[in-house]
Amino acid sequence: MKKNLKILAIETSCDETSVAVIEDGRNVLSNVISSQISTHRVFGGVVPEIASRMHLESINHIIKASLEDAGLNFSDIDVVACTKGPGLIGALLVGISSAKALSLALDIPLVGVNHMEGHICANYLVHKDLEPPFGGLVVSGGHTYLVNVKDYNDIEIIGRTKDDAAGECFDKIARALGLPYPGGPEIDKRAKLGNKNAIDFPRPLIDDNSYDFSYSGLKTAVLNYLNQKNQKNKEIDINDVAASFQEAVLDVLVIKSIRMIKEYNMKKFIISGGVAANTSLKEKLQKECDKLGIELFYPTNIFCTDNAAMIGSAAYYNYINGKVSELDLKVYPNLELNE
Ligand code: KG4
Ligand code: ZN
Repeated sequence: MKKNLKILAIETSCDETSVAVIEDGRNVLSNVISSQISTHRVFGGVVPEIASRMHLESINHIIKASLEDAGLNFSDIDVVACTKGPGLIGALLVGISSAKALSLALDIPLVGVNHMEGHICANYLVHKDLEPPFGGLVVSGGHTYLVNVKDYNDIEIIGRTKDDAAGECFDKIARALGLPYPGGPEIDKRAKLGNKNAIDFPRPLIDDNSYDFSYSGLKTAVLNYLNQKNQKNKEIDINDVAASFQEAVLDVLVIKSIRMIKEYNMKKFIISGGVAANTSLKEKLQKECDKLGIELFYPTNIFCTDNAAMIGSAAYYNYINGKVSELDLKVYPNLELNE
């Protein structure tokens, strides 16, 4: 395999237009992220149609900026990669169409990447010596997975959510509390000021033998609590609700992660996805992993939430294993992690 292989990667699955140049799967030469958050915030969440249009308006500028940041020209790029799914169909189409155009015009291979695999690979950008096998908790706005990463291209799903994703639950509860989108970072901040034992919210499936998760019951419990308080005209302590809710979510994530680590005799564990930016999740897992002598890895916050650098890393490990896409590559809005 060629040394210093440069991949230009495009990520447009949700509300971030991002383009990165990654060398040999681990070195970030550039990672430009144009966030649409301030636009969607007005609506309380991502509006798919607006997301697609904004990607379209900015994609060419972001590609140019990414090359400039890396100090490179199109002729220096060996492979072009893009997110093929999961995500919003219109948003994905903008990235995939741009990547196909570059592949055709520059006559270089195209690699379609699974966004969730990208989240796992975000760890390789920060932890240069990290190699599979390891276990992982992948928690984003749309997905919640417990995984056994046996090799770069061999990921076994051990558990998943039966309904809402953990990040989605953070966003919905934040919205009910009147906090802005995205809710995760807001709850994270508020929780630090509140009492996590103030309200005893349910921990769904915590004693269940499976590794699956469920968040719809917890979401309903928090909404019921808020409605009852409102009906009785009682004051709501937002910080206490945030802290108690977060504690309920994290308890289940941590207990199931540790049970999997023990049962599968895992030596290393990673977390990734937007929710991996959560301060208390990292602290709690670190404490438990230290007790067991397990090495815990997580990306820096910028690589936890959506970015193209992680897509470039995943593309590299696909490419060197012969996984190259054709120009008729489609988008897969509901792609599972190991598909
Ligand atoms: O990975 P990501 O950027 O996009 C998806 O692939 O979905 O994840 C976004 C999610 C949002 O639900 C956001 O609220 C959540 O990650 N998030 C957090 C934190 N930062 C972002 N959740 C909890 N605590 C945080 N600090
Ligand atoms: Zn994501």
